[in-house]
Amino acid sequence: MGSSGDDGYRLLNEYANGFMVSQVLFAACELGVFDLLAEAPGPLDVAAVAAGVEASSHGTELLLDTCVSLKLLKVETRAGKAFYENTELSSAYLTRVSPTSQCSLLKYLGRTSYGCWGHLADAFAIREGRNQHHRVLGKKVDDLFQDAYYRSPETQLRFMQAMHGVAKLTARQVATAFDLSRFSSACDVGGCTGALARELAREYPGLQVTVFDLPDVVELAVHFQPAGPQAAQIHFAAGDFFRDPLPSAELYVLCRILHDWSDDKVHKLLSKVAESCKPGAGLLLVETLLDEKKREAQGSLIQSLNMLVQTEGRERSRGEYQCLLELHGFHQVQVVHLEGVLDAMLATRVAP
Ligand SMILES: C[S@@+](CC[C@H](N)C(=O)[O-])C[C@H]1O[C@@H](n2cnc3c(N)ncnc32)[C@H](O)[C@@H]1O
Repeated sequence: MGSSGDDGYRLLNEYANGFMVSQVLFAACELGVFDLLAEAPGPLDVAAVAAGVEASSHGTELLLDTCVSLKLLKVETRAGKAFYENTELSSAYLTRVSPTSQCSLLKYLGRTSYGCWGHLADAFAIREGRNQHHRVLGKKVDDLFQDAYYRSPETQLRFMQAMHGVAKLTARQVATAFDLSRFSSACDVGGCTGALARELAREYPGLQVTVFDLPDVVELAVHFQPAGPQAAQIHFAAGDFFRDPLPSAELYVLCRILHDWSDDKVHKLLSKVAESCKPGAGLLLVETLLDEKKREAQGSLIQSLNMLVQTEGRERSRGEYQCLLELHGFHQVQVVHLEGVLDAMLATRVAP
């Protein structure tokens, strides 16, 4: 150790420059590079891309070649001139028209999350132990805590678009992780745009699903609901899950909800769900699990920090969730690791 050629130094550089890689991705998305290339009749040269995204040709060339090195673009050279096109990855995830587009998520990460993470060391979580939205939105912390989700209307919509993009990718796996056919009604608590509700309705044609979310989210959710055969099975209900009664259902779903909240609030929410349940009712919990030692699963640990920086919560291990569930009368906990980053847990409410 101690020379620029050693593995430690290489790893250090990789970590230190990691944010630059994210920024290349965010910038190329924000500028619309992938959309431009998707809409073009064939591969484009630097001048055409620079004109299309209204950027300098020097900057565009650097950006395009860096994207090639990151496998976000392909290049071919004809008569000494480079022509660029999307890779499979960018066509699937980085173009707006793709049904699996993650553009909204990247926009949210690039604008809101990146802003919060920029304050990681100097203020924040580790010293203050609270999220950093106030620094990004420029509001007083106390005002933000009045607003249940610490967001301006603009960031709220951006957040919903981001959640919708991710949920569309993961909803099928969640809906099929367990056999839920014994339930005839479900309530997706904090169900946002209804993306998971749609998949549950598709998988179980006899299931009626209520999406319960904050009033302003429910109001905006109509923009995300294309009419379809499942529409008659899905209903939206507005309310605050800490204050208002939850719609009655045989199955409650909490997908990426508990990780937003402190243990106190998690207890509050789980006791509300438990009160609303009859014995035999189900609770489907979907989160990213930490390993039991909480030192190994790098992706989950980073997400746990992300929760600290952006919310009141943290990720938890399977053991921690199992304790929380059992404390609130949910037993027979089954766990399935889904493809990607999520884990699903199904528990049954037993008689108190
Ligand atoms: C991280 S998102 C998860 C959305 C969705 N379940 C998913 O997995 O894509 C959290 C959701 O909880 C909702 N939420 C937050 N606080 C709430 C409250 N007090 N009452 C009802 N919904 C709330 C948010 O509006 C948001 O839709």
